[in-house]
Amino acid sequence: MTEQRVAIVTGSAQGIGAAIARELAGDGVKVAVADLNILGAQRVAEDIGGAAKALDISDPDQVSQVVSEVVTEYGRIDILVNNAGLVPFTPWDQLDFTEWKRVFDTNVNGLFLMTKAVCAPMADRGSSDYHDNRECDRLCVGDCQYRGEGTDNSWTGIVCFPVC
Ligand SMILES: NC(=O)c1ccc[n+]([C@@H]2O[C@H](COP(=O)([O-])OP(=O)(O)OC[C@H]3O[C@@H](n4cnc5c(N)ncnc54)[C@H](O)[C@@H]3O)[C@@H](O)[C@H]2O)c1
Repeated sequence: MTEQRVAIVTGSAQGIGAAIARELAGDGVKVAVADLNILGAQRVAEDIGGAAKALDISDPDQVSQVVSEVVTEYGRIDILVNNAGLVPFTPWDQLDFTEWKRVFDTNVNGLFLMTKAVCAPMADRGSSDYHDNRECDRLCVGDCQYRGEGTDNSWTGIVCFPVC
C-alpha cells in the first residue's frame, strides 16, 4: 500500500476542479480526476500523473464503482473534494422540471452520494478531509460543532456538509 495520500476531486476535467487537482498533485497527492467529461479528465490526469475516472456523481452505481476502483488501485482515500456542480443560468420561470431535477441530482444528491461512499474507506484511514467547494469553506476534521448541519440545512440545498 502506498504512503502517498490519495484524493478524489469531482468535476476536475476543467475550471476550479482542475486547478484543485493540480494543486493537490503539486503537494504530492495522487489525484483521481473524476468527471462526466472523460476526455477532459484524461488530459488533466496525464498532466499531473493522476488517474482519470469517468463519473456522474448523481449515479449511485457509478459513485460506488469509482470509489471502489480508487481503493483497489491505491489502497486508500484521504481526501474528497466535492467540486462538481451545475449553475443553470436559465431564469427560474423558464427552467423546466427536468433541468431543475438535474441540478438537484448533481449539486445536492451527488454530494450526498460521494460523501457517503468515501465514509468507510476514509474512516479506515482515520481521515476526514471532506471539502465542499461549492458553497462551504469549512474543512471539518474531527468532532466539530457543525456536525449534522448537512441535513439541518437541506432547506437551502447544501450550504455546508461537514462530516466529522
Ligand atoms: N466559477 C465560479 O465563479 C463559481 C462560483 C461559485 C461556485 N462555483 C462552483 O464551483 C464548482 C466548479 O466551478 P467551475 O466554474 O470550475 O465549473 P465548470 O462548469 O467549469 O466545471 C464543472 C465540472 O464539473 C463537471 N460535472 C458537472 N456535472 C457533473 C456530474 N454530475 N458528475 C461529474 N462531473 C460533473 C463538468 O463536466 C465540469 O468539468 C461548481 O460546483 C460551481 O457550481 C463556481
